[in-house]
Amino acid sequence: MTTELFPAELSVTEGTADPCIMVIFGASGDLTRRLLIPALYNLASDGLLTDNFVIVAMARRDYTTGSFRDMLSKNIKQFTTRNDFDQNTWQSLVQRLYYQRGNIDDPTAYNALADEINRIDSRYNTRGNILFYLATPPAMFGVITTNLYHAGFNKTDSGWKRIVIEKPFGHDLQSALTLNRELLACWDEEQIYRIDHYLGKETVQNILAFRFSNRIFEPLWSRNFIDHIQLTVTERVGVGTRGAYYEQSGVLRDMIQNHMFQMLSYICMEPPTSFKADAIRHEKAKLLEAVRIMQPEDVIRNTTRGQYDIGRSADGSLTPAYREEVNVNPASVTETFAAMKLYIDNWRWEGVPIYLRSGKNLWKKDTAILIQFKCAPDIIFRDTPAADHMEANQLVFHIQPDEGIELRFQAKRPGPTVSLQKVNMRFNYGDSFKSTPGTGYEVLIYDTMIGDTSLFSRSDLVETAWRIAQPVLDTWAANPPEHFPNYAAGSWGPKSAFDLIAEDGRKWLELVNCDTLAKVPLFQPCRTVFLSSLMMTLKPVVYAAGDNIVIMGDIGREMYFINRGEAETLDANGDVIRTLQDGDFFGEIALLLSRPRTATVRAKSDCDMLVLEQTGFRRILRDFPEFAHSVLQVARDRYQIMAPAEELFDADVARYLKDRDAAFT
Ligand code: BG6
Repeated sequence: MTTELFPAELSVTEGTADPCIMVIFGASGDLTRRLLIPALYNLASDGLLTDNFVIVAMARRDYTTGSFRDMLSKNIKQFTTRNDFDQNTWQSLVQRLYYQRGNIDDPTAYNALADEINRIDSRYNTRGNILFYLATPPAMFGVITTNLYHAGFNKTDSGWKRIVIEKPFGHDLQSALTLNRELLACWDEEQIYRIDHYLGKETVQNILAFRFSNRIFEPLWSRNFIDHIQLTVTERVGVGTRGAYYEQSGVLRDMIQNHMFQMLSYICMEPPTSFKADAIRHEKAKLLEAVRIMQPEDVIRNTTRGQYDIGRSADGSLTPAYREEVNVNPASVTETFAAMKLYIDNWRWEGVPIYLRSGKNLWKKDTAILIQFKCAPDIIFRDTPAADHMEANQLVFHIQPDEGIELRFQAKRPGPTVSLQKVNMRFNYGDSFKSTPGTGYEVLIYDTMIGDTSLFSRSDLVETAWRIAQPVLDTWAANPPEHFPNYAAGSWGPKSAFDLIAEDGRKWLELVNCDTLAKVPLFQPCRTVFLSSLMMTLKPVVYAAGDNIVIMGDIGREMYFINRGEAETLDANGDVIRTLQDGDFFGEIALLLSRPRTATVRAKSDCDMLVLEQTGFRRILRDFPEFAHSVLQVARDRYQIMAPAEELFDADVARYLKDRDAAFT
């Protein structure tokens, strides 16, 4: 039975990875059962592993091979990403897994490991190839790699030897330099695979394919045509059980210095000379080297940070403040949100701001990259209704969860006049490709087995990324935050992030989606196509508790929707007339008439708001005049504005309303 499952002769077919032993250090941890083993199972299911592939799981805990296999067999049912679980494939994989109990601090444990590896190699003919996967806390990286070296595991005279290192690679610039020094003293750079799981994402890999296999965009890809770039990685989850790790990390180390800088380098790098690993890695490293290193005053001006407070997540459940999470200091100043503006000092990107933001416990999970082009000159549209509707083209890479690429551009609205409207074209991965859901680790593990380092970070890139982050870490450490916590869990993040970009006259890529808008009573009767159009028109803004949103007597030109939070309406004496909550809206009259505001509205708590400006509103009305009817209804019922439609709306819309009234009477 066993010999049938594990043939000693080589069975390498095209596309399969090299025969090898994969030694997982720290194998009893979460990463192994949640991601590594399910990924290996997926590779096995797709026929990408040879029969001469064996796993040695090493950890300190008291398992035997049998009990470890049993535990994984239970876990795989929970963590597999495939719907059609195949017991035979699993059995054949798990039967090739051996547990090696050992203390990774202890050099003698490596002698026992060597004996086990020799035994397995001669039984399974793994050709002397060994992959050492360090699924341990980062503090152990140096110890393990040094012990492996002393046990002679780095020698490549009989088969390849590679080590895979999980993030975080270092805690700061100094520790990353030290770790690289330790590693490179024992191993060659080509033997080291520093993982960044974002590079395992198809949508991230596709950035290169998109840029360099399509001619149309490349000539536009520079300061000549691009106004700015935004990278957003928002998460719905908080730190959960990872408080102890996160306290030492914060979002800058956890997400920005690695995952976001990787995506930034893909978006902005020069074309590589080939798709070979080093050709790509040279260009990525060159790009990051060109990122301007911030001086302390730049850090103060161009970055902002936040920490989540108690709040409600999207499902309505109460979420604790970061400072109340397990293993978190109740006075912690660790940032769970950060936003910043960077510049790349090279020929292509000179003067183009790159905005980055990421945070935990925000209202939705979204990773997106926005390329905003410069606005077209409006010369030829002057004296036409289109003149005030010129909008910039936007290209959006939707990395996750709704994977796709979207191009937003202007189109002429059908009709006798020249007027423009923003429309979009969108490619959805799910519509064009059938792919089986995976863990994201499959391609990374597979590449380590075939020796392709393209998706792994070279030492120079990691160090350069730390060089960019270090002044931010230092300046933040020297200037502790005064107002933490400063955003509610489940919200859009701190107001300061919105101010950071608004000061440049720009705004974050709209975070809103149709579901959010459909919660607003005013929009409930409206069609999805209307909501999609509105989505591209609304501007997200955040107000802090106590801020005045509108002031009595000021001329209003926009209306507000409360996505989250509470605001209160005040009369001339400053007395509260009404409290407004999620889904409420106000100021709608300003869309119809530019009149002085009749009350002041003040944020009672931090508020996430959507703003609809008069110009955007009028543009949308031309396509969706039925919306004018809803607004008119509110104007009459709530504000007793009895002015005829002709005074409130453009002629076409007024005509629509008249015809509608006629049809209903
Ligand atoms: C990890 C971070 O690297 O990436 C986590 O340590 C974060 O804090 C995770 O939640 C996000 O990954 P993804 O693939 O869900 O975007």
